[in-house]
Amino acid sequence: MAVSGENLRIDGDRLWDSLMEMAKIGPGIAGGNNRQTLTDEDAEGRDLFKSWCDEAGLSMGVDKMGTMFMTREGTDPDALPVYVGSHLDTQPTGGKYDGVLGVLGALEAVRSMNDFGIRTKHPIVVVNWANEEGARFAPAMMASGVFAGEIPLEYAYGRKDLEGKTYGAELERIGWKGDEEVGSRKMHAYYELHIEQGPILEAEGKDIGVVTHCQGLWWLEFTLTGREAHTGSTPMEMRVNAGLAMARVLEMVQQVAMSEQPGAVAGVGQMQFSPNSRNVLPGSVVFTVDLRTPSQDKLDRMRAEIERRAAEICEEIGVQCGVEAVGHFDPVTFDETLVGNVRKAAEELGYSHLDIISGAGHDACWAAKVAPATMVMCPCVKGISHNEAEEISKDWATAGAEVLFRAVLETAEI
Ligand code: GLV
Ligand code: MN
Ligand code: MN
Ligand code: MN
Repeated sequence: MAVSGENLRIDGDRLWDSLMEMAKIGPGIAGGNNRQTLTDEDAEGRDLFKSWCDEAGLSMGVDKMGTMFMTREGTDPDALPVYVGSHLDTQPTGGKYDGVLGVLGALEAVRSMNDFGIRTKHPIVVVNWANEEGARFAPAMMASGVFAGEIPLEYAYGRKDLEGKTYGAELERIGWKGDEEVGSRKMHAYYELHIEQGPILEAEGKDIGVVTHCQGLWWLEFTLTGREAHTGSTPMEMRVNAGLAMARVLEMVQQVAMSEQPGAVAGVGQMQFSPNSRNVLPGSVVFTVDLRTPSQDKLDRMRAEIERRAAEICEEIGVQCGVEAVGHFDPVTFDETLVGNVRKAAEELGYSHLDIISGAGHDACWAAKVAPATMVMCPCVKGISHNEAEEISKDWATAGAEVLFRAVLETAEI
């Protein structure tokens, strides 16, 4: 059949139903999801996704990091596949769409190809990248980082959660350690659909974000070591208070980001006091600074400034200051041709669109190291994400998946 123009649509109801079905696995406490990497809920989500892929006629490969690659064959045996995907793992208090929309949107594109009887020259591979969130095991986008050759496999296996369990052991435990060498696949191109996780598209009244860049990131894990002491009986001048040092570092991080406006953010999302008792001054505090900006210069400058000033603060208080980089990627420029395909698809389908820079990190950022890559974004309500209150409309999801479908077909060649 002729597949062009107006008739090239996906099934928005089917996509939405699948999103709602997946959201039943690992329900959160406030309407969202807690389906963290390599938990039993992650395994259950993978099983459900696989069952849908089986129905759609896709064959599965799993690599040694646990990433799922679901293949729809192409007509040319020599053509490299077009990869399309995102992640099914969530934050501990995550939403129903962060990552999930990209995986199920890719599946919906394949289901629609089946409905239309479309054969593509290039195979299509729907991907569920393992451990995108990095909430349980830092860094984020870990499996795609290993795939791109940027993170060593053994380092990834050794990463620990707060209970001291390793990635490698937990991957074996849930039974999703595959046998494929990580990164052994070659990609013709990579597309990822994602919610914006920021407020711009909704505020501008646009249906689609054409993602041209992604900002760079450092995760700096600080370990401040002071002296554990009784909070009642230790005179103020005798305290070596790691908690006080942390508070000053937090304020300093805020100042550094403010001094680089516009276009820079930094903050702290995770901290552990030890021993974390009301009447003990903490002997040590571990916390992670997350800093991001689209500018390489600013990224380097902010990291250096934060480390320098943290050392100064700690010296003043007499606290020891250790810092380890536990996550990093440079700012990314996405592939011009693929970005053009997304823009063209939005135009052909009659969707309003805006060029944007991704504020969040995505597996597409690592995929861009090894293949032409880009992303499609759709709005989310008030920009809220990494929050169980994350919300999108069925129309937004449909528009995003439709643009994805059309751009992928452009690259995979009918
Ligand atoms: C990953 O989700 C990130 O942007 O932190
Ligand atoms: Mn995500
Ligand atoms: Mn996320
Ligand atoms: Mn992300």
